[in-house]
Amino acid sequence: MTALANSPEFHYQDGQLHVEALALAAIAQEVGTPFYCYSSAAIRRTYDNFASALRGLDPHIAYAMKANGNLAVIATFAGLGAGADVVSEGEVRRALAAGVPPAKIVFSGVGKTEAELEMALQAGVLLINVESEVELDTLSAVAVRLGVSARVALRVNPDVDPNTHAKISTGRKENKFGIDTGRIMAAFARAVDLPGMEIDGLAIHIGSQLTDIEPFRRAFTILATLVRELRGAGHTVRRLDLGGGLGIAYGDEPGPSAGGYAELVRQTVGDLDCQLTFEPGRALIGNAGVLVTAVILVKDSASRRFIVLDSAMNDLTRPSLYSAEHAIVAVAEPAADAPLHPFDIVGPICETGDTFATGRSLAPVRAGDLLAICSAGAYGAVMASSYNARLLIPEVLVDDGDFAVVRRRPTFDEMLDQDYIPDWIEKRESSENRAPVGPDVSAKSARRDRG
Ligand code: LLP
Repeated sequence: MTALANSPEFHYQDGQLHVEALALAAIAQEVGTPFYCYSSAAIRRTYDNFASALRGLDPHIAYAMKANGNLAVIATFAGLGAGADVVSEGEVRRALAAGVPPAKIVFSGVGKTEAELEMALQAGVLLINVESEVELDTLSAVAVRLGVSARVALRVNPDVDPNTHAKISTGRKENKFGIDTGRIMAAFARAVDLPGMEIDGLAIHIGSQLTDIEPFRRAFTILATLVRELRGAGHTVRRLDLGGGLGIAYGDEPGPSAGGYAELVRQTVGDLDCQLTFEPGRALIGNAGVLVTAVILVKDSASRRFIVLDSAMNDLTRPSLYSAEHAIVAVAEPAADAPLHPFDIVGPICETGDTFATGRSLAPVRAGDLLAICSAGAYGAVMASSYNARLLIPEVLVDDGDFAVVRRRPTFDEMLDQDYIPDWIEKRESSENRAPVGPDVSAKSARRDRG
């Protein structure tokens, strides 16, 4: 039995890729492709590993649900004791709907609206991470209006290069996030004086998919220095929110370890006697999911051989957006001696960016074969769109020998129902040029109700 390099819950058994006790091909048969598939056991194992690495630090782990906001996924984390890191009213609502206690929710983000702040305060969230002096004033006014006290941390921008993709770097001074280190003392003093808030500490988040953990050391050291300076000036600092960002392996390479990260946390901020909050997203869910997709056709051009899949950049946008390289494997285990060919693995969308991998070595595949795009648990389904009028794809959660469709595939009728053709188009446009609008159109649309 061989397992995927970075997630043993996905393994070959009797020549078929299984997730826990279930064959992915059997799930595909019922649900139709493409679909996301998550493993509960992988979620539990990864969470336990992260939490036990931090043992002794009394961590508050707020799962960054932007990585995967499915209610069943959040509820699984909540059941393990996790809180939630949220960045919008929608995420507050999702966290609450999945059973996350408000007292474990942290609200982050560079631009929260007054309505969002109001909603979060009314829900009774634990902490609001404030990213600018302007936001301090807005939050104070909202809290005073509501007659409540907001618990606040100031997000520091430490100007540290996280050594990751530019689009997901957040801790450099040219990034929009946080308050410059040099302005923290003044901003903290101002927050102490503002009505309607209790300033609890500092927060930081320098970027995502950090595979080198040294930038964390630089950032947390800056944070520790600030805590000492603030205390030296007579302030009370009770909490540090260290953000998320710990990376994962997307291929065979070893990923950064939770143990190494925890050790670094101990060394840099472990002796400050602060309550520590963590906001991991990808590290908890990234390798707990795959995207299962079918081959539509294999096509040769003069210089390349293309595998065209039924999933595309709208379903999993990371390869086109960040040039991410996800491992891709056949669901039916190839023979050990099968010849390997270089393939360009692409979706059917009408742009060249719709490419999952180029020159990837795979055993030959045929139309109808299933492939699994690995490490798709984080920033997969949540970033999907319906570009090219493609339906959002379902999400499936497996637990041992059971599976549930935890988000079903919408129907084409539901897609069409979201738009509206105003009467004035009816009146103005010549009806000779147009077929009748309305129920006839949707009734004629192909239905795909499975899943
Ligand atoms: N906390 C804050 C304030 C964040 O902005 C983020 C992620 C996290 C926590 C969680 O970071 P993680 O542990 O997952 O690295 N769509 C991109 C990733 C964007 C990350 C945005 N912020 C991707 O697919 O790589």
